Amino acid sequence: MTESKKAPVRAALKAVRGTRDLLPDQTPLWNNVETTARNLFARYGFGEIRTPVLEATELFARGVGEETDIVSKEMFTWEDRARAGGEGVHGPESKAQSLTLRPENTAGVVRAYIEHQMAHSGALQKLYYIGPQFRRERPQRGRYRQFWQIGAEVIGPPSSGSESPLRDAEILEMLAGFLDKLGVRGWRLELSSVGSYQDRVRYNEILRAALQPIRSRLCGDCQRRAETNPLRVLDCKVPDDQALIGALPQISDHISADSQTHFSAVRAALEACGVPYTLNPRLVRGLDYYTRTTFEFTVSTGLGTQNALLGGGRYDGLSEMLGGPRSPGIGFAIGEDRLILTLQAQQEEDARASGAPPGELLDAYIAPLTPAQNATALALARELRCAGLRIEVGDGSFKLRKSFEIADSLARHIVLLGEDEAGSGVFTVKAFASGEQTKIPRARLAEALHGVQSRGSNFVQ
Ligand code: HAM
Repeated sequence: MTESKKAPVRAALKAVRGTRDLLPDQTPLWNNVETTARNLFARYGFGEIRTPVLEATELFARGVGEETDIVSKEMFTWEDRARAGGEGVHGPESKAQSLTLRPENTAGVVRAYIEHQMAHSGALQKLYYIGPQFRRERPQRGRYRQFWQIGAEVIGPPSSGSESPLRDAEILEMLAGFLDKLGVRGWRLELSSVGSYQDRVRYNEILRAALQPIRSRLCGDCQRRAETNPLRVLDCKVPDDQALIGALPQISDHISADSQTHFSAVRAALEACGVPYTLNPRLVRGLDYYTRTTFEFTVSTGLGTQNALLGGGRYDGLSEMLGGPRSPGIGFAIGEDRLILTLQAQQEEDARASGAPPGELLDAYIAPLTPAQNATALALARELRCAGLRIEVGDGSFKLRKSFEIADSLARHIVLLGEDEAGSGVFTVKAFASGEQTKIPRARLAEALHGVQSRGSNFVQ
C-alpha cells in the first residue's frame, strides 16, 4: 500500500474586510426584528418588493447624485465585459456596461416602479424591502461594507395623494411604533425640510455665494464641492471645517411658503399622534434626491459615533430623474446592523441589572445517564420537538456534572433519563430558574416544559 499524501498546509481564508458572518447565536434576533417589521408594515398596507443587488451604475449616478460620497467614493463598481457574439447581462450582443452593487435600495425600487408601470393603476404604492447593501466605507462598529437595510417607500402619481403631508407623518408614526415595539429605548427623531427642488436650486446658489470667501479655508473635498454641489459641503465631517459650516446660511430660512406649509402640516400630524421630534436645520442627508421632509432617528446606546439608526425623506422628483412619470414619494431605510447592535447593548444592560444571562434558552436539555439510554433520549427529543418544544440532547458518555453544566448554559430545564426513567416513563426534571426538581410522567412532560416563561429573554412576540 502506498503511503497517503498529507494535504498541504494552507493559510485559512477570512471574510472580506467590512463583511461579517452572522452566526446562530445572533440570527434569532435578526429574524425577530424582520418578522416584527413584516407584521407591522403589513398593518399599514405595505407589500414586499425584492429588487436585484446588481444595478446599472447610471441608476445611482442619476438618482443618488454623482457628487455624493456614496457615488463618488463608496460604490463597488466594475465594467461588465461584453463578449464578442455572446450574451451580456442585458441579453444577446449587449455592450460592456458599468455595473454596481447597490449602495441603497430607493433608486432600485423607483426603477422597478417605472419599469413595471406601477403608476398606471393610479394607486398609491406602499413597498417595503429587507436586504443587503454595499458601500466601500472604512469599517468600524456599526459601519460595514455589506450591511442590511429594512426600508420602505410610498410612491404614486400626485392624484394618489403621494404628496400629502399625511404620508410623511404616517411613515414617521409607523417608525416610532416599530422602535417602541422592539423596545428600543431613548430614540430621538430629528426632522427637517430641505424644501422643493426649486428651493434647493435657489439655496444652492445662496450657499455657493456664501462659500466663496471661505473656500480656501475648507478641506480639499469641500473646496471642490463648493463649486460642483455646495449642499454637500453640509455633510462634511472634517472637524476643522465645522465652525465655518455652522455659520453658513440655513436651508430652513430659504424654503418657499408652499414647502413651509407642507412641513407645518407634517409637524401638526406628528403632534396629533404624540410622536416627539426635534428640529435639526442642518439635516440635509447624504443623498441628492431629497426634497421637503427629511429625517433621521438616532439612539444613544450601543452605536458610539455611528448613532444614525435610520434615515429617510421625500423624493418628489426622483421618478422623473430616472425617466419615469411624475410620482412624488417618501421613504426610509433602517440600518438593521445598527438596530441589532442597539438591541444587543440594551439586552446586556438589562442582563447586568437583573443578573440573568442574556439571550434565549432552549426549553429542555435531555441528559441520558449512560450510552444505553442514547436511543431513547433521541426518541424522546423527537416527541417533544414535534410538540413544538426546543430541545437539545446530551450523550450518555457525559458525566452527570458535565450534563448539568451544559444544560444550565443552554436550557431552562434538564430532563434526566436513566435506566429507571426509561423503564417507568417517569422523568426527573429540574427547572433551573426555581431550582425545583420534580418527577413528571411522559404524557405530561411536553405540557410541563412549555409552562415556564423563558429566563433572561426579552424577545418580542
Ligand atoms: P442612508 O441614510 O444612506 O439612507 O442609510 C440609511 C441607514 O442605513 C443609515 O441611517 C444607517 O443606519 C444605515 N447605514 C448606512 N450605511 C451603513 C454602513 N456602511 N454600515 C451599516 N449601516 C449603514 C438611505 O440609504 C436611503 N435609501 C433611505 C431612504 C429610503 N430615503 C428615502 N427612502
